[in-house]
Amino acid sequence: MAKILMKTPIVEMDGDEMTRIVWKLIKDILILPYVDLKSDYYDLGLVNRDKTNDEITVQAANATKKYGVAVKCATITPNAQRMTEYNLKEMWKSPNGTIRAILDGTVFRAPVLVDGIAPYIPTWEKPIVIARHAYGDIYKAVDGVAGKGKAELVFTDEKGEKTTLPVFDFKDNGVVLAMHNTDKSIASFARSCFNYALEVKLPLWFSTKDTISKKYDGRFKAIFEKIYNEEYKDKFEKAGIEYLYTLIDDAVARIIRSRGGIVWACKNYDGDVMSDMIATAFGSLAMMTSVLVSPDGIYEFEAAHGTVTRHYYKYLKGEETSTNPVATIFAWTGALKKRGDLDDLPDLVDFADRLEKATLRTIEEGEMTGDLVGLFKKDGITPQKLSTEDFLKAIAKRL
Ligand SMILES: NC(=O)c1ccc[n+]([C@@H]2O[C@H](COP(=O)([O-])OP(=O)(O)OC[C@H]3O[C@@H](n4cnc5c(N)ncnc54)[C@H](O)[C@@H]3O)[C@@H](O)[C@H]2O)c1
Repeated sequence: MAKILMKTPIVEMDGDEMTRIVWKLIKDILILPYVDLKSDYYDLGLVNRDKTNDEITVQAANATKKYGVAVKCATITPNAQRMTEYNLKEMWKSPNGTIRAILDGTVFRAPVLVDGIAPYIPTWEKPIVIARHAYGDIYKAVDGVAGKGKAELVFTDEKGEKTTLPVFDFKDNGVVLAMHNTDKSIASFARSCFNYALEVKLPLWFSTKDTISKKYDGRFKAIFEKIYNEEYKDKFEKAGIEYLYTLIDDAVARIIRSRGGIVWACKNYDGDVMSDMIATAFGSLAMMTSVLVSPDGIYEFEAAHGTVTRHYYKYLKGEETSTNPVATIFAWTGALKKRGDLDDLPDLVDFADRLEKATLRTIEEGEMTGDLVGLFKKDGITPQKLSTEDFLKAIAKRL
């Protein structure tokens, strides 16, 4: 068979530990034999980030801006222990944070559903995608401990004019916090969500607590509403999907009772908490994909999980591993499909579809990695645990 040709390269960001091993296996076993892969390669492994003073991460993000589609392997975000382990020059920032700051996007997390692994909520038949606003609120807040006295919020405008808001009159010790967001960031979050919902043809729900936080959350609600009415209402009606704004407590209740098939836009903290709940409720973190979509339509695909450190140490000792590659495979297929769509390459899109189907079929027919064995239940099939490499070969056989 002739290999499938590509026109524009995909930006490829390599990563760390076990996922770096899995990355190479996926390419060797499932992609390179079939696709004449054009990739603009960046090694974001921690060793190379340290060597290049993290310049490589910026270069990869800029290349993503240039080409429009990237696929990223999981990477280590260094902490004190990693500083010693890798003898680092500096505690480099999270690569995802750096890339997000350059591309200014929203992260969408969606579970991969498999027949045989039932979600904890039996009515969930379709994926629930969490869109998390990735700027501001408590993640960029200042907080402090207060004693007896007055806490106030002071805003000084460009001309030096001050407005003071009383926060609380403390009779005893307590705590205070101040946080912010910007109209620009909220608007780009809104546009990313509307675009994504149109792309996957799913309804969009957005929730805040504007009944309590009238000005702060009220601003989010108003910006979404204005952008929806002015730029997206017609497109949504044409696509037959709805936009629903509701309170976060109502959204939680509706989500639990739903059949899935929803994009749920959440403020930063809500998205942080709800995405872990949704991932766990759908079965496994290793089956959760993640895509960063910028307001100007740039896509970066990755797995939602980390570098699976424990498996890597086993691998280094020469022991057999059974690491789940599904989310990383779906990151690749997401990028290949997007590239295929943009460059009008139906064969590439078709290949990515077939690879996804072969992956799901392998699990549905009882061959899987260790993390899924305990979750899998299907009449007449006893799940079989395969090693990382054997699982990929089992997919290749079906592909
Ligand atoms: N997007 C990213 O690049 C990203 C995200 C999270 C963590 N990290 C990095 O990953 C490293 C490890 O972090 P962690 O342990 O908190 O997260 P992790 O996702 O690597 O592991 C969390 C738990 O889930 C299990 N798990 C995760 N993915 C799995 C898979 N594919 N197959 C089987 N089991 C799987 C692990 O064994 C572990 O018990 C850290 O250095 C962290 O900085 C990177």
